[in-house]
Amino acid sequence: MKHLTGLCNVPASDITSILDMAAIFKKELITPNPSFAASLANKRLALVFFENSTRTRFSFEIAARHLGAGTLNFSASSSSVSKGETLSDTIKNLEAMQVDGFILRHPSSGAADLITGITSKNVINAGDGSHEHPTQALLDMFTLREYFGKIENLKVIIIGDVLHSRVARSNIYGLVNAGAQVGLCCPVTLMPPDASQLGVTLFTDLDKAIAWADTAIVLRLQLERASGGYLPSLEEYSVYYGLTDERLERIQKHLLVLHPGPINREIEISNHVADRIQPPGYSKSMLLEQVTNGVAIRMAVLNTLLSSGTNPEKA
Ligand code: CP
Repeated sequence: MKHLTGLCNVPASDITSILDMAAIFKKELITPNPSFAASLANKRLALVFFENSTRTRFSFEIAARHLGAGTLNFSASSSSVSKGETLSDTIKNLEAMQVDGFILRHPSSGAADLITGITSKNVINAGDGSHEHPTQALLDMFTLREYFGKIENLKVIIIGDVLHSRVARSNIYGLVNAGAQVGLCCPVTLMPPDASQLGVTLFTDLDKAIAWADTAIVLRLQLERASGGYLPSLEEYSVYYGLTDERLERIQKHLLVLHPGPINREIEISNHVADRIQPPGYSKSMLLEQVTNGVAIRMAVLNTLLSSGTNPEKA
């Protein structure tokens, strides 16, 4: 594997290898193993972020440091992009400085695939438009596998702004490929036109979707796009599609809740659910476990793509 721009065409066996490697690296987060720190020694990774990020950017940086790699941080607003330099020229110039790999976040769908044709170095997609966010889906799959002991036949409902969500798309590809049963639940205005071709079950009634599911991945409602006539109001969205205290008290079902963050509190998820303080019903949120697992997953992805043969099982 040279690049990771999406999970669409990644074989299930490769996904399993990354999850298995992340399980080994997760132990490293608690008890550092000095031999891992040499895995990517002398490698330089450019974190090229054209959009804001907290979790993805920092966890890639921490993951790189655990493996001994150096990182260069790029943000569009303080770079020559603000003078009109193109993405293509930016990548070519960073490569000319002997960067070994690119971790790219970009608002345009397809940007990560585009730069694989420009650079000879490794490319990792850290989220491109509404296309894919593969490392987020891998960390979600890791969290589910760790909790349930398996992914096959798990019923996973993805709730919310599926239309605009790169997290949803990567999770659909990865989970379906791994044998999970995936459902999508959202207003019809936020359902992708190709949803029926994705091998998923479609719901518009959240109570029915939760009754069907073992676990829920709640998506961030992309408020920056909600003004486009997709929703009558945020209040109405919360009543019909929010994981509210009232809904979970009423349904009384064991429901493991994931959310990629950042969260819109009291819109798609209640404070009590998100913070696990007096969680209503039998819900259990995994939001901060997901963030920890994100570091282990990103270590596994970096090691898979950039290491010259370090096998953590033998370290
Ligand atoms: N989940 C996620 O991508 O979060 P950030 O935007 O903070 O990286």
